[in-house]
Amino acid sequence: MEKLANEVRALCRERDAVILAHYYVDGAVQDVADYVGDSYYLAKVARENPHRTLVFCGVTFMGESACILNPDKKVLVPAPDALCPMALMVDAEKIRLMREKYKDLAVVCYINSMADIKALSDVCVTSSNALKIVKSLPNKNIFFIPDGNLGRYVASQIPEKNIILNSGYCHVHTSITADDVEKAFREHQGAEILVHPECTQEVCEMADYIGSTKGIIEYAAASSAREFIICTESGVLHELEKQAPNKKFYFIGAKQICPNMKKITLEKVRDCLRDMSPVAIMEDELRQKASAPLDRMLSLAK
Ligand code: 13P
Ligand code: SF4
Repeated sequence: MEKLANEVRALCRERDAVILAHYYVDGAVQDVADYVGDSYYLAKVARENPHRTLVFCGVTFMGESACILNPDKKVLVPAPDALCPMALMVDAEKIRLMREKYKDLAVVCYINSMADIKALSDVCVTSSNALKIVKSLPNKNIFFIPDGNLGRYVASQIPEKNIILNSGYCHVHTSITADDVEKAFREHQGAEILVHPECTQEVCEMADYIGSTKGIIEYAAASSAREFIICTESGVLHELEKQAPNKKFYFIGAKQICPNMKKITLEKVRDCLRDMSPVAIMEDELRQKASAPLDRMLSLAK
């Protein structure tokens, strides 16, 4: 593994490349990366980074967003088949119908979506900035796509808005049930329950803290509690153990694995740097349309 990691680092230097990795990818890939973080942090890095080539270790919408934000760079995607199923759970027709129904509608698009849907939206959000951005919008009526659970959580915190929900969901987060969490809590009394807002309402209602992957890691590191039940994808354990080595983290069995994030292996990272392929590509017209809501997110989230 160390030989492979050294090979990857040498190729990065040769290609003037940097590696961006989400907290859900394999620990060996996180360790070789230049930047590791949540979706918002990685989008900011993709926009601001001076290197010519970005290697995006995450599901495809993440590489696609990096490509939208940074048209002059080459964005390598080690596993182009790593789709986030939720990103496909809304279509253009639903947006069109909703815009017809509400004249003042703002379409708020979770970054877990494809470029053609972003292009039809007013603003993008991630789980770490959705509350701030939705609150700042002048519109009363908001169509929140594609994640119904994140949308419901945002609606619960901003009752003054009429937030219309879509039925998309993350199969990893919704597979964590309230019964699972209750059972884990019985086994670890006193543990704090940290929840990603893609989880169901029942699970969110049991939470001591609700936030993005980065928020969960920061909360656990700062908390005076020693034990935590973690309700998000288990890849976060790698950083949790670095940030809080003396604390204990519990997960709900084998349910908390995103199979698509796990398609990104160190071998594939090495191969794509060696071959300078596969790359995220997009036609210019779509890129320009999809970049406006991402730009708006970056400026409203500041
Ligand atoms: P974060 O933005 O919290 O990292 O979440 C991304 C994601 O895909 C959650 O499933
Ligand atoms: Fe998509 Fe869920 Fe995987 Fe996140 S954990 S990338 S929302 S399938």
